[in-house]
Amino acid sequence: MNGEKILLGVSGGIAAYKACELVRRLRERGAEVQVVMTENATRFVTPATFQALSGRPVRTSLWDEAAEAAMGHIELARWADRIVIAPASAETMARLAHGHASDLLGTVCLATDRPVFLAPAMNHLMWRNAATTANVALLQSRGFRMLGPDRGEQACGETGEGRMMEPAAIVDALAKWPLRSDRLAGLRVLVNAGPTLEDIDPVRYIGNRSSGKMGFAVAEAAQLAGADVCLVAGPVNLPTPAGVRRIDIRSAAQLLAVMLAEAPGVDIVIASAAVADFRVREIAPQKIKRGPEGIHLDLVPNPDVLAEVARLQPKPFLVGFAAETENVLEYARRKLAKKNIDLIAANDVARPGCGFDANENALTLIGAESQWHFAQAGKFELARQLIDRIALCFRSRS
Ligand code: PMT
Repeated sequence: MNGEKILLGVSGGIAAYKACELVRRLRERGAEVQVVMTENATRFVTPATFQALSGRPVRTSLWDEAAEAAMGHIELARWADRIVIAPASAETMARLAHGHASDLLGTVCLATDRPVFLAPAMNHLMWRNAATTANVALLQSRGFRMLGPDRGEQACGETGEGRMMEPAAIVDALAKWPLRSDRLAGLRVLVNAGPTLEDIDPVRYIGNRSSGKMGFAVAEAAQLAGADVCLVAGPVNLPTPAGVRRIDIRSAAQLLAVMLAEAPGVDIVIASAAVADFRVREIAPQKIKRGPEGIHLDLVPNPDVLAEVARLQPKPFLVGFAAETENVLEYARRKLAKKNIDLIAANDVARPGCGFDANENALTLIGAESQWHFAQAGKFELARQLIDRIALCFRSRS
């Protein structure tokens, strides 16, 4: 956990006092800790206590102008390598499950694609209540990870399940989910991401939808798994993940040229780019004038970049993506065979909350003989799971 940036969310409950020890233990392990308290949490422990322990000003409100000017809530969400909410009250989990953004902690959790860990703390009847059970199931299905709760005597004097896990146990559990691994150590990975744009004239273009978020998350997860990563990016508005070499392209032709130049000697290629399948036969040198009768575009097919890379000898281990809106698994399987690749991540882009632009996604990774489903989660969390599986498939092939 050395050097890791942890955003610790503290919500309202008597167990908030235990979060003080958690801050101390996380810092002992070398983590940087930024505390965000809900308004109710400040009724149990003062922000001054957490400020002294964490060495950073505590954030409590979306409406603190000075704090927002120093680091806005979106930057705060981006700053964190992971988010830990301890204690996570029934109220906070209900709000997270339903995507409320009325306070700082809820907003940060909505704006992150990092793993979020919840350490619930509440009365045992509240924990077993059907509403809480449903909220926990929903949160887990979206990739939130539960730390506890423990069983034992509770602050209210009753005994049961609902005690917050002890800070030492939380730190041990977090250490078992390290962000960094050596699964791809010593390997070279080439990732492509984002759309390609095909110019019609100096002003207009055609292209596919893609924000690049999925592919950038894959590149970052591969880098954190120890790989030497090159990311070939179409026009997107995203920062380059730390430690990743980036090459920007615009069109499918440029993507093909860069991929063919970079792929030799690479171990794994992961193609998440949404490549435009057509381009205009000739780009007009000047802006085409609008007329009452409209225009006809003479479109010609673009090369299949991934299929071209698959012709290289020796061939890298190839992972494609398939963005589909119907018959998702069947069409993805056809692409796996047609493009002569090793794995394909089937992406149902018609599924609400997933696919293009969204912060979350769900994928089914398909190989010649097996397939693995990855439930809906933040794109970074999903990318970590995907990279782990790709690494296992790559190692078992070699
Ligand atoms: O970028 P986001 O907003 O986060 O969205 C992510 C995503 C939905 C774009 C991503 O998860 C995804 O599904 N990417 C694949 C998009 C796509 O266009 O798929 P496809 O089914 O058309 O292509 C299949 C595979 O062949 C892909 O690996 C693609 O990169 C590749 N291909 C396609 C056409 C072409 N001419 N050349 C190619 O290399």
